[in-house]
Amino acid sequence: MSAGRPDDGFNDGAATPGGPSPSAPAPPPAPDQAPLLELEQVHAAYGPFRALFGVSIAVPRKSVVALLGPNGAGKSTVARVVTGLVPVSSGRVRFDGRDVTDVRTYQRARLGIAYAPEGRSVFSTLTVEENLALPARSDRGRAATAAALEKAFQAFPQLAARRRQRAGTLSGGEQRMLSLASVLVEPPLLLVVDELSLGLAAVVIDSVFQTLAAIRDAGTSLLIVEQHVDRALSLADHVVLLSKGEVVRQGPVDEMRALATSLPGM
Ligand SMILES: Nc1ncnc2c1ncn2[C@@H]1O[C@H](COP(=O)(O)OP(=O)(O)OP(=O)(O)O)[C@@H](O)[C@H]1O
Ligand SMILES: [Mg+2]
Repeated sequence: MSAGRPDDGFNDGAATPGGPSPSAPAPPPAPDQAPLLELEQVHAAYGPFRALFGVSIAVPRKSVVALLGPNGAGKSTVARVVTGLVPVSSGRVRFDGRDVTDVRTYQRARLGIAYAPEGRSVFSTLTVEENLALPARSDRGRAATAAALEKAFQAFPQLAARRRQRAGTLSGGEQRMLSLASVLVEPPLLLVVDELSLGLAAVVIDSVFQTLAAIRDAGTSLLIVEQHVDRALSLADHVVLLSKGEVVRQGPVDEMRALATSLPGM
């Protein structure tokens, strides 16, 4: 677990060793201490249907935030707002020191926001190996790309056995593994994960969560929407509870655990 890290954006104002004395005026946060991702008073809608009402969320650098809440709460909508798939009707989205509210999805991806959506997201006519090589940066060089692929195959041996198989012929669970494995090839600054374990066998979910932990350990921050609350809490540093398009509570996982596990419909 990594709760209570010193660069934790949720601990604003907490005394830190070597920090300014209490009498000194508070300096502006250093760029690397500001949260990696911030949603400020975000409203969002699907046509006339309003889905988010003033959602403010922060994902500190190198942390895992679990977004929990009942069906229809707006979790996937938050994930889509972060990736730019759903526009905000008001409010701001900031990422890595810049305002990305009006930045397109593919540009956000270039800035370091990766998205693992509900369901499958692989190129079905390409092989497993080709799918994995796609996100590798072109300036990386062959040897480095091959090494990154091997790392992904080590995390998912089941995929290694199928490396030359077309992705469209993989099972649903294997396709989900593949979309997660491709994240390992080129780790983003932020990975947004929406119900990645939906419909997967328990043993596969285990490897999905081990992989998420490995991605976190490699320095990527995670915003995870997950129906298995216990698993989400085992990985999370912070929890945001969403209901009817509003944040009802948020805080460090230790303060939120009892509440999160006692909510009806979760
Ligand atoms: N494409 C859409 N068009 C219209 N309304 C939508 C659309 N997608 C979501 N909604 C509505 O927005 C609200 C929030 O949906 P969202 O998918 O964000 O919830 P969720 O918390 O992810 O739920 P679940 O746990 O069931 O996945 C819901 O009332 C839903 O019906
Ligand atoms: Mg959803």
